[in-house]
Amino acid sequence: MSFEPDRISQVVLRPVAVDDEERFLELARLSTDLHHPWVGLARTPSGFSAYLSKSDHVNAVCMVLCLKGQGDLVGMINIKDIVRGPYQKGVLGFAAFLPYAGQGYMSAGVALAVHHAFEHLELNRVEADIQPGNGASLRLVQRLGFRREGFSPGFIKIAGVWRDHERWAITRDMELPVVFRE
Ligand SMILES: CC(C)(COP(=O)(O)OP(=O)(O)OC[C@H]1O[C@@H](n2cnc3c(N)ncnc32)[C@H](O)[C@@H]1OP(=O)(O)O)[C@@H](O)C(=O)NCCC(=O)NCCS
Repeated sequence: MSFEPDRISQVVLRPVAVDDEERFLELARLSTDLHHPWVGLARTPSGFSAYLSKSDHVNAVCMVLCLKGQGDLVGMINIKDIVRGPYQKGVLGFAAFLPYAGQGYMSAGVALAVHHAFEHLELNRVEADIQPGNGASLRLVQRLGFRREGFSPGFIKIAGVWRDHERWAITRDMELPVVFRE
């Protein structure tokens, strides 16, 4: 699958901040159809503060992907459920915002997030749990070289239903299809 590394230079990945609230909520509402039934993002100010408070930089790092220059929010990417000790792993969550979906920005952003996880958070493994019908997400992780490790029936409860998930992961010893220069 193709990947356009140029997109990396057009975006910035940074921690979500209090000041993002208004635009985040606006874009999350605009993107409801894109996100359903795969993810449910914060839709209200109290939901947004709960989301911010999850980002404690110990168990979870919640980030927004922004366009360089203009700064608008292209999407959100979390590394959560961070486990240290012998595991050194985290679980990815991500979603694009309309009108920026389907243009290669999110693949670039997830590549940046994986790089951040390995190089700055010093994780050894990043996982992504994806429902079998979620074609866009499956294509995204395949594009970045994740490996399908398994299938777990009824793995995660989403909107009140236990959903099957494919288990994808990338580890430090695997190569991202992008060269990063620090
Ligand atoms: C999954 C999701 C984040 C993917 O977002 P996206 O915007 O499609 O991802 P990208 O920015 O990497 O765009 C890739 C698509 O853009 C196309 N594209 C267009 N111009 C491009 C360019 N210049 N460079 C690269 N790709 C380009 C690619 O062909 C690709 O299309 P395809 O998936 O049909 O093959 C998005 O569909 C989404 O938010 N889904 C709902 C939430 C969700 O499922 N989250 C994950 C839960 S596990």
